[in-house]
Amino acid sequence: MKLDQAINIDDLRRMAKRKLPRMIFDYIDGGADDEVTLSRAVTRYNDYELTWRALRDVTGIDTSTTIMGQETGRPFFISPTASTRLFHPAAGELAMARAAEKAGVIYACSTLASQTVEDIAKATSGPKWVQLYVWTDKEIVKGFLERAKEAGFTGCILTVDLPVAGNRERDPRNHFAVPPSPNLKVASQVLARPGWLWDLIRSPKITPANFTHIQEKGDQGGVIGFVNRQFSRAVTWSDVEWMREFWGPGFAIKGISRAEDAKRAIEIGADAVWVSNHGGRQLDTSVPTIDLLPEIVEAVRGRADIIADGGVRRGSHIAKLLMAGATGVALGRAALYGLGAGGEAGVSRALTILEEEFLRTMALMGATKISELDPDLMRAPKI
Ligand code: FNR
Ligand code: LAC
Repeated sequence: MKLDQAINIDDLRRMAKRKLPRMIFDYIDGGADDEVTLSRAVTRYNDYELTWRALRDVTGIDTSTTIMGQETGRPFFISPTASTRLFHPAAGELAMARAAEKAGVIYACSTLASQTVEDIAKATSGPKWVQLYVWTDKEIVKGFLERAKEAGFTGCILTVDLPVAGNRERDPRNHFAVPPSPNLKVASQVLARPGWLWDLIRSPKITPANFTHIQEKGDQGGVIGFVNRQFSRAVTWSDVEWMREFWGPGFAIKGISRAEDAKRAIEIGADAVWVSNHGGRQLDTSVPTIDLLPEIVEAVRGRADIIADGGVRRGSHIAKLLMAGATGVALGRAALYGLGAGGEAGVSRALTILEEEFLRTMALMGATKISELDPDLMRAPKI
């Protein structure tokens, strides 16, 4: 299948599965424990049913909005994902950032990006945010945030649902490590994907590019091993205050699942509460984000933006999260499947698919701007 023949995100997922070595594809596709949250995140949207307003002129539809102070042409954007060169060794985050800019959407890069914030900033003049994991050494955090700000990043996203890495059982089964360790099981996976292997051989070593000064002796379990060794498990709300102070406006807290924490986030000065369960990669059987939104919207009462993510594979999923009260919707795997399927052009294809589906959903519902996607057009499931 060629990229322009991909008609939905699932087509791109199948293309990525054919192009990437199993352990690399599974690092995207997998989730924690029994992957209950991973699968329910997607299917839960089907339980939210829609009505529409008939006989509305939907010739012109405006999908522009503002998320965390950033004006944007679309209410969705690319979520931070670690080591993105794993899925496209030649470019990774640069491909994602370029495609985001072309599509007019915000790009958020991970602390564990495989390209430096400076190189990402050179690749795109579009709006960009940086995601933060908290190192044990506070000075490392400060240095990273200073570099990001200097490079033109305007938003900071503190991720708080990963005090330890979730139990991703596909990874040890696949002997997943970054860079791939030379053993028979890995070799059989990698040799089965010669195109990816050739791309990997011709590209620089894949590392957490912003922290090469923190040398890792040998590979001790790749990304997840690095996460568990380098990041603090002792982060509390009092730490967040200095980070918010240090960064300034444009500060989101990602990985909120409770109204009480949403309130704490606002008290600390967060400009956005990001309702997320990390795409089902952390605490399995966590509640699908769309079910959590009403209580969090109630608690936030308009005092901050609400970003939501998880399981978004259709334009209608984006519309449902907005109707449930989200200000903006973040895309994780949908964009990565595009990257794995075809690099920057694949990410562009993913964003185009979702934009076209979102526009069609709005037209079918009689909505010509985001504010017309109001909650009573959607019927939440009877719990
Ligand atoms: C992620 N996610 C993530 N989140 C974060 O705050 N920092 C990170 O470094 C990463 N890394 C990462 C890698 C991969 C391969 C995936 C799939 C996800 C989580 C991501 O930002 C987002 O919250 C979820 O992916 C959203 O769910 P969907 O859209 O993937 O279903
Ligand atoms: C993950 C971490 C790195 O989800 O955020 O893989």
